Amino acid sequence: MSVQVRTPLAERLGLSTPIIQAPMAGVTTPALAAASANAGALGFLGVGAMTAQAARKAIADTRALTQRPFGVNVFCHRPAVANAAVQAAWLSYLAPVFREFGAEPPATIGEIYTSFVQDDAMLQVFLDERPAVVSFHFGLPDESRIRALRDAGIFLMGCATSVDEALRIQQAGIDAVVAQGYEAGGHRGVFDPRARDERLGTLALTRLLVRRLEVPVVAAGGIMDGAGIAAALALGAQAAQLGTAFVSCPESAADTAFRAALADPKAVTAMTDAISGRRARGLYNRLMRLGEAHDSPAVPDYPIAYDAGKALNAAAKARGNSDFAAQWAGQGAGLSRALPAGELVAALSAELEQSLHGLRGLAG
Ligand SMILES: Cc1cc2nc3c(=O)[nH]c(=O)nc-3n(C[C@H](O)[C@H](O)[C@H](O)COP(=O)(O)O)c2cc1C
Repeated sequence: MSVQVRTPLAERLGLSTPIIQAPMAGVTTPALAAASANAGALGFLGVGAMTAQAARKAIADTRALTQRPFGVNVFCHRPAVANAAVQAAWLSYLAPVFREFGAEPPATIGEIYTSFVQDDAMLQVFLDERPAVVSFHFGLPDESRIRALRDAGIFLMGCATSVDEALRIQQAGIDAVVAQGYEAGGHRGVFDPRARDERLGTLALTRLLVRRLEVPVVAAGGIMDGAGIAAALALGAQAAQLGTAFVSCPESAADTAFRAALADPKAVTAMTDAISGRRARGLYNRLMRLGEAHDSPAVPDYPIAYDAGKALNAAAKARGNSDFAAQWAGQGAGLSRALPAGELVAALSAELEQSLHGLRGLAG
């Protein structure tokens, strides 16, 4: 028996299934967002690492492939604090590894992309293009930016890793909160990377936020199939946001090495700040090991460290080695399957219905 699973948030966003394909900078593409949207989920573009001009093009390219609503996501981190001594020490620590691949570390590293909190050109793109949804990671922009986006009729979402962050998001007038558990792939959305991290898992965080907030909650982290989505809905979430599950879709920008690593059922993930300068979960690799070593110096601020990480990855990749890549993935990585996005959304929806049906069966 097929049941349509509806939630107020899914209805509000015009979705036929309460599934959100997570924004993933460097991985999401217009083709991925459009295919997810065309299948009835909310497609998303991660434009946090793009210029305003590139984001405008990505939005236009997505619109050419779908009539359905989709979201756009930006980073709201505190702009980087440069520290020449820390950066020089980090580059000199990595230098022998660059040399293994016949390269030298860059002479200097810097802030490779602009935070939305100071990116007026990106704000203008959103006000001109009016995507259905804009979501924020690493905190929130100021009140005037939030008001401008709301006045433009854009639905806003913010990412929380704690009750405190969630209450601040609700207080700022944001329409929905993403509860990002410690299991999640990619960067932790923590507002202040220097603050103590409670490391709440998706299950506890989602339930805490559902109980404490008035606005709808979206669960994110470690959800890979319909059973996971059913669990999120049982906790009171109004949608589930899946990132890792969509990385292996042919429409994503993931490279061959990332796809191969995800296809390994023994894939292991870890949390590190050595790749970008902020804590993020990805497939365990040698750059993470370097960051964990007892003689590792302090890692430069985000995203300055990312400049070094990307240069090291490029040097290694040129020699056929992908052991320094930022292959962000959540704890459910071993459950990945390589399906086209439309088929994946259809499979997730069918599994969700089966799971709900099965749970009803348990009730006798
Ligand atoms: C490869 C990758 C890149 C990501 N990039 C972003 C991003 O640009 N913006 C963002 O808000 N979240 C980003 N995330 C986090 C996702 O929004 C989401 O919280 C996470 O994927 C959920 O956990 P899961 O991967 O276990 O499904 C990324 C996640 C992955 C796996």
